[in-house]
Amino acid sequence: MHQRPTQFPASESHRLVNEDRRKRQPVEIIVQRIGPKVGEVIADLGAGVGYLSIPLADEGATVIALDFQQDMLDGLRERDNGLERIRVVRATLPEIPLPDRSLDRAVMVNVFHEVEDKERLVSEISRVLRSKGRISLVDWQARETERGPPLHERVPMEKAPSYFPGFVLEKSYDDLNYYHLELRRE
Ligand SMILES: C[S@@+](CC[C@H](N)C(=O)[O-])C[C@H]1O[C@@H](n2cnc3c(N)ncnc32)[C@H](O)[C@@H]1O
Repeated sequence: MHQRPTQFPASESHRLVNEDRRKRQPVEIIVQRIGPKVGEVIADLGAGVGYLSIPLADEGATVIALDFQQDMLDGLRERDNGLERIRVVRATLPEIPLPDRSLDRAVMVNVFHEVEDKERLVSEISRVLRSKGRISLVDWQARETERGPPLHERVPMEKAPSYFPGFVLEKSYDDLNYYHLELRRE
């Protein structure tokens, strides 16, 4: 029987920012690999409580944080010290309620495997990205790990680029628990 992917519950949001996560998936490394530029407009798709949105805004990017759980967005607002460069938008992916060609980059950290209609999501990302816009995709390795979503829901690193027709894989990082792909729109 077809089952929808498991969704990370807002009641567990403390696990998105605790010490254990900071050790296993340091946000500084993700930000360094992304290399955000001052003034860049970035959508954090499935932003949670802003593990990535806040450091990206601290680097000078304008961040649009989207999530379908209002509690996550409220948690982000509690943590962001009133940073004006972050805008929160409640939205259910694959829909991205943003104008065409309005973004320099979209980022998804530990989210892609949770979205059921991946093809539609990628088509939405293509619509909202400017030409040469980038997508940063970080997700769980599709192998047994100490923690993480069910194995059968994970997207293998080798297969992930095939979900992004019209994008070129510029960089890839193959870590123990996670992978990070940097893709650019052709
Ligand atoms: C594992 S958490 C990761 C949060 C954040 N990216 C991070 O790295 O801390 C997954 C997030 O994606 C959000 N999410 C999952 N499916 C979604 C959907 N279809 N639309 C919007 N948000 C979604 C969840 O609400 C949750 O906040």
